[in-house]
Amino acid sequence: MAGTRTFTMIKPEAVAAGHAGKILDMIIGNGFRVVSLKYTRLSHKEAGAFYEVHKERPFYGELVDYMASGPIYAAILEKSNAMEDFRKLIGATDPSQAAEGTIRKAFAESKAKNAVHGSDSDENALIEGHFFFSSREQY
Ligand code: CMP
Repeated sequence: MAGTRTFTMIKPEAVAAGHAGKILDMIIGNGFRVVSLKYTRLSHKEAGAFYEVHKERPFYGELVDYMASGPIYAAILEKSNAMEDFRKLIGATDPSQAAEGTIRKAFAESKAKNAVHGSDSDENALIEGHFFFSSREQY
C-alpha cells in the first residue's frame, strides 16, 4: 500500500451547489488516490450513527438533519500521511478561519455547512471507511 488512508464526504450543500467535481479534482490534484467512491444519501438514522461521537454537542441535531438532507459523495483516499495532509487540504472547520487554497476556503458556506468531512485520526478513518465500504469495495 502506497501510504496511509483517510475518509472524506462531500457534504449535501456542496453537492447541491455543483461543487463535487471541482472538489474531487482538488483532492486528486493534491496527490490523493481514490480507493473507494460512492454517490449516496444517508438516512437520518445513519447520519446519527455516523456522528455518534458528537451526540452530546449542541449542534448534533442540526448536523444530523443537515447530513441526511441530500446526497453526498463518500470516499476513501490514500496518500503518504493521508489523514493529516487531507486535514490541511480541507482547512479549518470554520471557513472564515480556513487558509487560502483550502477546500473549505473555496467552497464552504459556514461552520455547519462546511463542504467536506475529513477523518480526525487514522483509527476513525478506518471506522468511517468501513461505515460506507465493504472490503471488496476498497481498491
Ligand atoms: P466534520 O468535519 O464533518 O465533523 C463534525 C461536524 O460538525 C463538522 O464537520 C461540522 O459540519 C459540524 N460542526 C462542528 N462545529 C459546529 C458548530 N459549532 N455548529 C454547527 N456545526 C458544527
